[in-house]
Amino acid sequence: MTALTLSTSGAATLRADALVVGVAKGPKGPVVAPGAEAVDKAFDGKLASVLETLGAVGGEGEVTKLPAPSGVKAPVILAVGLGTAPAKGDGFDGEALRRAAGSAARALAGTKKGAFALPVESAADAAAIAEGALLGAYAFNAYRNGNGNGKNGKDDKSAPLAEVAILGGKPRDKAYKAVADRAIALAEEINRARDLINTPSNDLTPKSFAAAAQAAGKEHGLTVEVLDEKALAKGGYGGLTGVGQGSANPPRLVKIAYTHAKAKKTVALVGKGITYDSGGISLKPAGHNETMKCDMSGAAAVFASVVTAARLGLQVNVTGWLALAENMPSGTATRPGDVLTMYSGKTVEVLNTDAEGRLVLADAITRASEEKPDAIVDVATLTGAMVVALGDRTFGIMSNDDAFRASLHEIADEVGEQSWPLPLPAELLKGMDSPIADLANVGGRMGGGLAAGLFLQEFVGEGITWAHLDIAGPAFHESAPYGYTHKGGTGSSVRTLVRLAERTAAGDLG
Ligand code: BES
Ligand code: MN
Ligand code: ZN
Repeated sequence: MTALTLSTSGAATLRADALVVGVAKGPKGPVVAPGAEAVDKAFDGKLASVLETLGAVGGEGEVTKLPAPSGVKAPVILAVGLGTAPAKGDGFDGEALRRAAGSAARALAGTKKGAFALPVESAADAAAIAEGALLGAYAFNAYRNGNGNGKNGKDDKSAPLAEVAILGGKPRDKAYKAVADRAIALAEEINRARDLINTPSNDLTPKSFAAAAQAAGKEHGLTVEVLDEKALAKGGYGGLTGVGQGSANPPRLVKIAYTHAKAKKTVALVGKGITYDSGGISLKPAGHNETMKCDMSGAAAVFASVVTAARLGLQVNVTGWLALAENMPSGTATRPGDVLTMYSGKTVEVLNTDAEGRLVLADAITRASEEKPDAIVDVATLTGAMVVALGDRTFGIMSNDDAFRASLHEIADEVGEQSWPLPLPAELLKGMDSPIADLANVGGRMGGGLAAGLFLQEFVGEGITWAHLDIAGPAFHESAPYGYTHKGGTGSSVRTLVRLAERTAAGDLG
């Protein structure tokens, strides 16, 4: 794990392998951002024009490396673009700082220590830089031979930046220390979620995922209960059993609970944990399977959020429910046309075995409802329709409570996650009428993401506030890395869920 410190040193005097400075897009070319005054001075006040000569404009994510002049201790200056300079008097946007720090940290992979002299006007700015740097300093090398272990020099550069020092602001201030500690816990847990998502399905099975939850539970004093396939069958969990029965890796339902003695509220988080989604008998065509190890991203986000809440000691109970199964075709698999009796007692005709997420989530939502939490939020890579609607960086928010949906949208905004509120139009539920069962698991093609939400809503306990986050787009990043986002698992929604827990602890919600 990358180490993080808040440094009281000046930018020019701190010993580091590289010194990160900010450059913004000004009306007449690049401008050096606050925090880098001492460095600019060492360039005789010409850093901006040197950068311009090198082709820099200050655009978001742009990275320019140059040798440091005498008077600066670090040998290399890394100028990272912050995007358009804010109007006079305004500070930089938190997410701009987070992304710039992430781009810089990615560019420094393979080096030991990076000093970040980006603009810091508040503890929140320091937090954003810390988060971005720690999330950018990530690599998934578990399956690479010779990487990062010093044995194979040519590949060593993929080891993440080992140390991050953040300069500026008031590093001795209590508020700064608190946000740094929070950023470390949050980023480490997001990176843990990324590791789980990136782990291929031959190694991450429902059983091994449950074991990881048990190990983390021990480490952080959480209550962990695991229902195995026998307990699930006996308990009447028809959704989890039906989805998991085609696989040699049987399903699990994991409860991982953090409690605080003085908590006044309980938030339940339910995660879709399909460790591999082949589609089942309704097999996905080639081209749609390759990344389906990511179909447990919701469960990974829930897991990471519960552990983060524990590490932060939040005054709220956070109960995670991980609905784990592998969706495979086989002689024992559920067939299109089969009817499952769900944990709630409702019957569901499975018309498409590729609409499996809603089946495992439905059972977990019913189970979570039994404990009468103040709110339930489920998180799932649920529908391709959501990716078509919102693209690959934005998750959809649906809810049975307009105010709660608006709060989640606002919280996501605050923490720098892109999201959008969506409706649950009642008429789409009729599309899931079944001629023989209470409900079918699919309806028409139109509004597919919303229909999935409506299906889930049928399993929410009476009177419980509930929201559904469809993270199918942002959970797994396939195109070029940007900011703190790498290829592969992203840890989407963890920041939102943790802030939700914090706000609930503070009594800001409901
Ligand atoms: N896991 C998929 C959804 C998905 C698609 C996640 C793309 C990430 C990226 C889900 O289980 C699924 O297959 N959904 C179907 C539902 C349909 C059969 C109603 C879909 O979206 O095609
Ligand atoms: Mn599917
Ligand atoms: Zn799926």
